[in-house]
Amino acid sequence: MISIKNVTKVYSNNFYALSNISLDIKRGEIFALLGPNGAGKTTLISCICGLIKQTKGLIKVSNFDTLKDYRKTRSLIGLVPQEFPLDSYESVLNTVNFSRGLFGLKPDDKYIKNVIQSLKLWDKKNSSIITLSGGMKRRVLIAKALSHNPKILFLDEPTSGVDIQLRKEMWDMILQLKQSGVTVILTTHYIKEAETIADRIGIIDKGELILVENKENLINKFGNKSIIIEFGKKIYEIPDKIKDFDCFITNDNLCLVIKKLKNNQDINITNVIKIISKLKIPVIDIKTEESSLEDIFLDIISERVKGEL
Ligand SMILES: Nc1ncnc2c1ncn2[C@@H]1O[C@H](COP(=O)(O)OP(=O)(O)O)[C@@H](O)[C@H]1O
Ligand SMILES: [Mg+2]
Repeated sequence: MISIKNVTKVYSNNFYALSNISLDIKRGEIFALLGPNGAGKTTLISCICGLIKQTKGLIKVSNFDTLKDYRKTRSLIGLVPQEFPLDSYESVLNTVNFSRGLFGLKPDDKYIKNVIQSLKLWDKKNSSIITLSGGMKRRVLIAKALSHNPKILFLDEPTSGVDIQLRKEMWDMILQLKQSGVTVILTTHYIKEAETIADRIGIIDKGELILVENKENLINKFGNKSIIIEFGKKIYEIPDKIKDFDCFITNDNLCLVIKKLKNNQDINITNVIKIISKLKIPVIDIKTEESSLEDIFLDIISERVKGEL
């Protein structure tokens, strides 16, 4: 749906905001561009949407060049910007209709009603925007972005500064959009967000795309699974038979945390329990833990700082 090839953006102050980014976005997926503040997320979105021009490289949306066929590519895209200058006295319905008009499309009352209804704003259709809550204003922005029936929706930090309730509503809504066949690209520095709703995740840092991976693969490939065993008495050293595992004793001297097997096989819980039961040390609790995307993200960023990735 979107093909980005060797895109570099150098701002006029000679700052490299994007360095040689290549990325393909598939039709119908939810893609999360994850990275810390200043990583270049908004810059990349702005290039794809044609708000700014890349310094080098090629971007195609549905096979049209974003520079040569700007009008065509822009018409396929809906953009919900990071900052929202929405302090209008205009009514919800008028502002959404107006956005559609900007794309040179005829009014379509039925479609617009559908969009506004699906965003749970229909009972506010005649209210002026200035009277709406922050969450409702955000939904108006999404309605505006959807007003011309785009195939692709960009959401730049859709839930920053939003309360938990609204964040969950946004996630549901994004999943519904995917169901309706829209390709969704969102940026976030909020890892839980990528973990919850994305199909694929791209990690961007200092203008470089460090990796792009299916969410499950990312967690399998970089994540650790641990078994934490809490013993009923103090353990001073790792018992012989457990030394095959990549394990260590935690601070409180009660738990033994076993990470992956040394030969990198997955942990076989049955084997671990067999070995432990033979040790004849009373066991109080056994639990397993898997790394979250947050652990993986922090690992990846810190490896980069050390220059290992
Ligand atoms: N118009 C501009 N001129 C110069 N530098 C800019 C401009 N816009 C953004 N930057 C810089 O580019 C970097 C990436 O910014 P941005 O794409 O907004 O990051 P993100 O959205 O990931 O937080 C930042 O260091 C920012 O200060
Ligand atoms: Mg940004």
